[in-house]
Amino acid sequence: MKKITVNGPAKLSGEVTVSGSKNAALPIIFATLITEGISELRRLPDIGDVRVALDIIRSFGAEVLSMDGVTYIDTRRLSYCQPSEEQTAKIRASTYLLGACLSRFGRCRLSSFGGCNFALRPIDMHIDACLALGAEMREGEIFAQRLLGSEITFKKQSVGATVNAILLAVSAEGESVIRGFATEPHIDALIDFLLSAGASIERTEDEMRIVGRRLHGGKATVIGDMIEAGTYLSVALATGGKVRVRDCPFVDMSSFFKTLTAFGAENRMSGNVFSTSLRGRGEYISVTALPYPGFPTDLQPIIAPLMAIGSGGDITDTVWHTRFGYLDTLSDFGIRSELSGNRARIYPSKISPAKVTAPDLRGGAACLISALAAEGQSEIYSAEIILRGYENLTEKLRALGADINIQEF
Ligand code: EPZ
Repeated sequence: MKKITVNGPAKLSGEVTVSGSKNAALPIIFATLITEGISELRRLPDIGDVRVALDIIRSFGAEVLSMDGVTYIDTRRLSYCQPSEEQTAKIRASTYLLGACLSRFGRCRLSSFGGCNFALRPIDMHIDACLALGAEMREGEIFAQRLLGSEITFKKQSVGATVNAILLAVSAEGESVIRGFATEPHIDALIDFLLSAGASIERTEDEMRIVGRRLHGGKATVIGDMIEAGTYLSVALATGGKVRVRDCPFVDMSSFFKTLTAFGAENRMSGNVFSTSLRGRGEYISVTALPYPGFPTDLQPIIAPLMAIGSGGDITDTVWHTRFGYLDTLSDFGIRSELSGNRARIYPSKISPAKVTAPDLRGGAACLISALAAEGQSEIYSAEIILRGYENLTEKLRALGADINIQEF
């Protein structure tokens, strides 16, 4: 178990460089299982979830070597196995084994898939995609002697189900047509990796056409993490500082930037560096989390402490209706809120230090922002949950002037 101790308040200033995106890196790592060759991945973030994903693909025989900022993954000699439930239960992205294993080995056992438990996280659309391409379910295992190209129209946008549909279609015989898919930037990042591995994928605004082929090793430089960038920008505003975020994926973040502008932040962009600061008190803001290009659900917990420090706000989450458990934990920091269905009202509050347990990855990041803004010492237990998604978190915050430590206990 890890504990983060913060002595606040901090007025964070300086520059921070964004790491590779967790949610882009994970599908690419699992996609290497479908390729036969050596893939080269750059800017893979060194975070908990990525380490677990690499361990899972190693259990199939993938050889992973990291050197000079490049991770080489050799998938020429793989054999099917049942990966450790302990590992698959740690990360949500282990659901990508459905598409990857059916494509490579023709089988996959359904096991416990992990990740943040802020809502029920069904996989019905993942399974439907497998069945649509000819797989069959028998006693908790899915088999496909042959995957056959087919049409899939999702009833709702799902990142995970879209990833699995793509992973299945790239090796199915013939053409698949996918509609109703998620359009997050990490989906395009996965497509780019698969194209570099020889896949045939054509994507328009509302249709993907994929013809199955044998894939060789591919290449990717993982895109910048928009949730990490949004977290550091929020840290700057919550602490009254001024932070420059280098390699900020600002094209992907327009809905977030609109929210910062509505809050009253002064935003500046120069090349790939985005900076933000706030004079005076933040305005009341309303946020509705939607699939991309809407406001990202993963940033809604992060923005809650800003609302409390400012003039209040309201958050509606249309992606995960119950993603508000973290508000209970934020109440320990004095943040007052009221929940009604999938809408939370956050009241202007005086933030004070607290001892809390990180409720989940982004809820934990919201606790950290609150701790940095509060006057006095705060402690956040189960900090490894936050480190699942943020590379060099304490080092980056310390470089911005935070008094922060992490301890094993
Ligand atoms: C991904 O989860 C991300 N995780 C989540 O980020 C993120 O919150 C989410 O997408 C939405 O952007 C990873 O990329 C590893 P979904 P995923 O399938 O794929 C419903 C973080 O903090 N649904 O897009 O699991 C579901 O209930 C994490 O980094 C079905 O109904 O999310 C939800 O309402 C947390 N049936 C909606 O779709 C299904 O079969 C979107 O979920 C699948 C999903």
